[in-house]
Amino acid sequence: MCGIVGYTGKELALNPVLSGLRKLEYRGYDSAGIALALDSGEKLWVEKRAGKLGNLEEILGTKIPNSHSGIGHTRWATHGGPTDENAHPHLDNEGKLAVIHNGIIENYLELRAQLEKAGHKFKSETDSESVAHLLSDARKKHNGDLAAAMREACQQLRGSFTLLAIHSDEPGRIVGARRNSPLVVGVGDGENFLASDVSAFISHTKRALELGQDEVADITANTIVISNLAGKIQPHNEYEISWDASSAERGGFEHFMLKEIFEQPRAIADTLLGRITGLSEEITNRIDFKEIDKVVIVACGTAFNAGLVGKYAIEKWADIAVDVELASEYRYRDPSVDSRTLLIPISQSGETMDTLMALRYAKDKGAKVFAVCNTNGSTIPRESDAVLYTHAGPEIAVASTKAFETQLVAMYLMGLHLGRIRGTISETLLSQIEAELAELPAKVEQVLETVEPLRELTRNFSTASSMLFLGRHVGFPTALEGALKLKELAYMHAEGFAGGELKHGPIALIESGTPVVAIMPAAGSLLAEKMASNIQEVKARGAVVIAIADSELKAADFLVRIPSTHEFLQPVLAVVPLQVIAYEMAVARGNDVDQPRNLAKSVTVE
Ligand code: M6R
Repeated sequence: MCGIVGYTGKELALNPVLSGLRKLEYRGYDSAGIALALDSGEKLWVEKRAGKLGNLEEILGTKIPNSHSGIGHTRWATHGGPTDENAHPHLDNEGKLAVIHNGIIENYLELRAQLEKAGHKFKSETDSESVAHLLSDARKKHNGDLAAAMREACQQLRGSFTLLAIHSDEPGRIVGARRNSPLVVGVGDGENFLASDVSAFISHTKRALELGQDEVADITANTIVISNLAGKIQPHNEYEISWDASSAERGGFEHFMLKEIFEQPRAIADTLLGRITGLSEEITNRIDFKEIDKVVIVACGTAFNAGLVGKYAIEKWADIAVDVELASEYRYRDPSVDSRTLLIPISQSGETMDTLMALRYAKDKGAKVFAVCNTNGSTIPRESDAVLYTHAGPEIAVASTKAFETQLVAMYLMGLHLGRIRGTISETLLSQIEAELAELPAKVEQVLETVEPLRELTRNFSTASSMLFLGRHVGFPTALEGALKLKELAYMHAEGFAGGELKHGPIALIESGTPVVAIMPAAGSLLAEKMASNIQEVKARGAVVIAIADSELKAADFLVRIPSTHEFLQPVLAVVPLQVIAYEMAVARGNDVDQPRNLAKSVTVE
């Protein structure tokens, strides 16, 4: 939601804080701000501006303040519009204490009223500013101990937060805390970091520490102390970051999204590595899968669409009922869940609040939780019984591409695992699917060869007001994903439909020239014939049809050929042209591809 970074160490702090913010900007770009604790102990150096980080960089000039510790924030606005005043950091009355925040302080109105009564002057409309004033009072009460103040303040806060604070009297010290929002510690040599995610510091260090719920991290250049809210020192789990620094760079591509589209063969291969013929016992021993009689997948957005594909595969191969639920709906409808339920939360970031809350709901009712996640050490895997990590690497573009592909792969691996242990999948089918899975990276590579002509074709439709996507079977969730990508990037009306549903209403949307993307089921199948009829139906009403198919299709106006594969695996290939269409449409319409309006990469509020 918002991106947060803190640096303390041997370098002048402005550079590492700014470079961390550049890596975190995908989390929100309504405003950006920095506060530095000057080595001299004078009043804090603070700059903040509404809009993208570039606006802040423009006013910074070339002079680097003499400071070795500081904090930076990039905002996705919730409380208060995207203005200079609402940009973080927020300061106390004296301008000596600065705070940055990610999340929502639910009781901020109450706190603000109390603090204003006690003489605190507020300058913004945000929920976050109340924390700066609260901390300021608490620090005075604790004789200048910022960590003790943070512990006390956190006990008064309701909601979700990652907080970082500095004080001008203690240059070199940064105190952070988290509840339901991400915060990792980067462990360097003579320097340490606190950040929303590791991309902010992987160019400096590959060592990281997980921070648990309601924990406070107190760091200087050479020390890291982690405590709980009662002040008890907590043990911490250090891990090595496997992503390399260059994977978070654009590397010659015009946009991160395009780079990430091209990284898909590698991401799929990495996620499949060593797992095609079975998941490791280290993962599977954590849950007794024989005790499960129902599967519930919870996720949001693109991850939800991956879950829908998972339903087709898991039900077929493992012969078990699978529900797929929007995480934001799930826990508020009092669903039936018990200890024989296997809950599968799917999340790239591992921090999506809706998904996390659905997980907690089901876990409280006794469900076993087997997460699919791309981000090591994030909250969702930490709170799950077992995790199947996807290996997409860092996904920086807000629109999800390679994470989706690897989530699909995870769904297939889970389906096969459940099929094997339940004895519901035949040896013949098993080896056929295993062989097809192994072929996927090369086949996606083949699809990527069609990118240039498809980009050219897409430009013909750049002024269309609407685009529809049709699919059947696993092609239906693929159509939903194609439509989501287009809405998100091209800001145009786009909808995905099941081919069979057309005649029940959506066909009324078709008029002369409406572009319809048809995802064709495998050639020769019964469903391919049905889809061919659907194509005729829309064409008869004036639609222009772009078909994505594994064979020739005369009825289509334009054809994007993809290799054939097992019918359940087809979304992995078919989604690539859909991603390219959305990408090119955004470019043609002059939109910001990597940071589409109103969005943020990781949605850590409900
Ligand atoms: O990090 P998550 O996978 O939990 O995120 C879920 C959705 O917010 C995400 O997939 C979103 O829909 C994408 N931006 C779509 O491209």
